[in-house]
Amino acid sequence: MNMTIEKSNLPLNQIILGDCIELLKNLPDECVDLVISSPPYNLGKEYEAKKALLIYLEEQTSVLRECSRILKSTGSLFWQVGAFSDRGMLIPLDIRFFPILESCGLIPRNRIIWARQHGLHAQKKFSCRHETILWFTKSDNYTFNLDAIRVPQKYQNKKHYRGSRKGELSCNPDGKNPGDIWLFRNVKHNHEEQTIHPCQFPEDLVARIILGTTNTGEIVFDPYMGSGTVAVVSQDYGRYFIGSELEPKYYQVALRRLSKKPDKNNYFPNLKTLRDYVETTGEAIDKFHFDVQVGKRASERSKAKIYPEEYHLQSMEERLIYEETAFANSLRGEEIPVDPKLNGNGKKTKLSTKNGEQIELNLWD
Ligand SMILES: C[S@@+](CC[C@H](N)C(=O)[O-])C[C@H]1O[C@@H](n2cnc3c(N)ncnc32)[C@H](O)[C@@H]1O
Repeated sequence: MNMTIEKSNLPLNQIILGDCIELLKNLPDECVDLVISSPPYNLGKEYEAKKALLIYLEEQTSVLRECSRILKSTGSLFWQVGAFSDRGMLIPLDIRFFPILESCGLIPRNRIIWARQHGLHAQKKFSCRHETILWFTKSDNYTFNLDAIRVPQKYQNKKHYRGSRKGELSCNPDGKNPGDIWLFRNVKHNHEEQTIHPCQFPEDLVARIILGTTNTGEIVFDPYMGSGTVAVVSQDYGRYFIGSELEPKYYQVALRRLSKKPDKNNYFPNLKTLRDYVETTGEAIDKFHFDVQVGKRASERSKAKIYPEEYHLQSMEERLIYEETAFANSLRGEEIPVDPKLNGNGKKTKLSTKNGEQIELNLWD
């Protein structure tokens, strides 16, 4: 039964356990400032692949029509998708989503490439190393708080060397636009945010979107909350959230992340929530555990290596440049440059390494 919720009575800071379409149908027009989500896209095996894809896209069209309806005229929608693959045949889903979003009356702003340094190594095609995030707005009057999300300039001390501005910094000292290639580390093993959910958003990726496209006190909606990352980041930055999740076990993880407290067995949903709690309360870390803990003890944050996105982006850029130079040199029969990180684990290659050694190490793996 449809019972439209009044704007004055929205389920603020709540995740509803159930199908997102039911929640969406009950929300009033133009009531949220930002929709951000990664929809499910394991398309099921029970249908022939092509038919399954069509059914999936029809369902997604209904969800996106509703998302667009509940979005305020100044609002933004971010939809993060990868590729659907069936026995080697690839369908990048953003290509299919683009016209659907346009048919909802939304205006495209960016197609963000979320690049990965690591992933499965394909044998019969190029290994997939990116997913996409589509940003659409409802009108031309939308929020973009660039100052809240600037990143360091590449050459921040570079100055004009002639003309009337000679000696002045040639770039904005507050930093630059982050651009549309993002390299937030995927939340997999060794990531302090990892919960039992198999495909979480990294919190920093969500923070960039929320800080860039909303103001304090505005409302963020995620129809597919999963482990609740969008809710957690909204809460951390003083925004309201509303959302839904179909699976009770992920819904529980989301509630536990939001509570920021241990459960009755002293467990946290992930290492980050545990570390945050210990840092705030001063309690001994050894009392606590987290769901996906491997060793006996939860490690301390001061001992953990946590790098910002810029670090990963720079090291990926360096790696790609190295790999392409090595490839170009091998094509031309020229000497292959020394791999700067031949030993892995961030250890630099010794200067004494002979060039010949790396060729034996199967450079093209
Ligand atoms: C890709 S995951 C989202 C992960 C999330 N971004 C996070 O950071 O944890 C998609 C989620 O949608 C949920 N889901 C699938 N169909 C749904 C539906 N019809 N309504 C609500 N949630 C659904 C799945 O259980 C899954 O947890």
